[in-house]
Amino acid sequence: MTSMTAHGDPAFTARQPVLETRGLTKSYGGLVAVNNVDLKVFDGEPHAIIGPNGAGKSSLINLLTGHIPPTAGEIMFGGRNIAGLPAHKVARLGIGRSYQRTNIYPSLTCYENCWLAAQARRHHSFSFILPARRHDDLHDIVEDALVRAGLGSRIDAVASKMSYGEQRQLEIAMVLATGPQLLALDEPLAGMGREEAEKVIQLLVSLGKSYPLLLIEHDMDAVFSIAHTMTVMVNGVVIATGPVAEVRSNPMVQEAYLGDLREKY
Ligand SMILES: Nc1ncnc2c1ncn2[C@@H]1O[C@H](COP(=O)(O)OP(=O)(O)O)[C@@H](O)[C@H]1O
Ligand SMILES: [Mg+2]
Repeated sequence: MTSMTAHGDPAFTARQPVLETRGLTKSYGGLVAVNNVDLKVFDGEPHAIIGPNGAGKSSLINLLTGHIPPTAGEIMFGGRNIAGLPAHKVARLGIGRSYQRTNIYPSLTCYENCWLAAQARRHHSFSFILPARRHDDLHDIVEDALVRAGLGSRIDAVASKMSYGEQRQLEIAMVLATGPQLLALDEPLAGMGREEAEKVIQLLVSLGKSYPLLLIEHDMDAVFSIAHTMTVMVNGVVIATGPVAEVRSNPMVQEAYLGDLREKY
């Protein structure tokens, strides 16, 4: 008779995080912007980081993407410690970070912007020679990225002619075109109106099913719709982390950050 042992049962196998930080710290002189942060991001569990201004959220994402080097600590990704690697190497390993709007070439189409992003991942720097033919070897990747980012009907739209919300979607498409293993998005809804935000929230819900997702977001409606896991930072320190429902009812979190949301939620 055969039976599944606990050891062999996938349900009993310890889950491996896609990304894990251990004691991650960033000091600016006497100011500890990110203080001894332990973070785990799992596939299939979109993870939101919230906290008031100055909490260290952007510094954290900048550490994870290699845009700033840590003062101390480890960043485990793909089986190795990537702490201290420069941004272009981290990007090549598959941590896809949404670019600022200025990284969009306004006079180019969605297709061309994504093509350049896909090309950059391959050759580490932008090539300004756009494809002569529409069906080159990056075509499927580019089209897939645009469809996934909700821009399937805007493939030939010129970026500067699109709405602000669509431009932010294009940034996401450009990240997808690089073939990321994890998406790290810093306030993807910033500056959007409610209607635009709703659309991008739905987009992020669906992307969270295909990619490990780490999201910094101020919009609590968005966090509660998208994230399964939530980490709260205050003054560089993680004060709570866990399933969204647990963390949002944690008294310390209510006190520190969500107090004004008690009535609303
Ligand atoms: N390059 C820098 N030099 C000095 N201090 C910085 C720098 N970047 C961020 N800080 C400080 O680190 C703290 C965390 O900032 P930040 O990560 O931007 O927080 P958040 O994104 O949560 O608003 C703030 O006090 C900020 O002033
Ligand atoms: Mg910030």
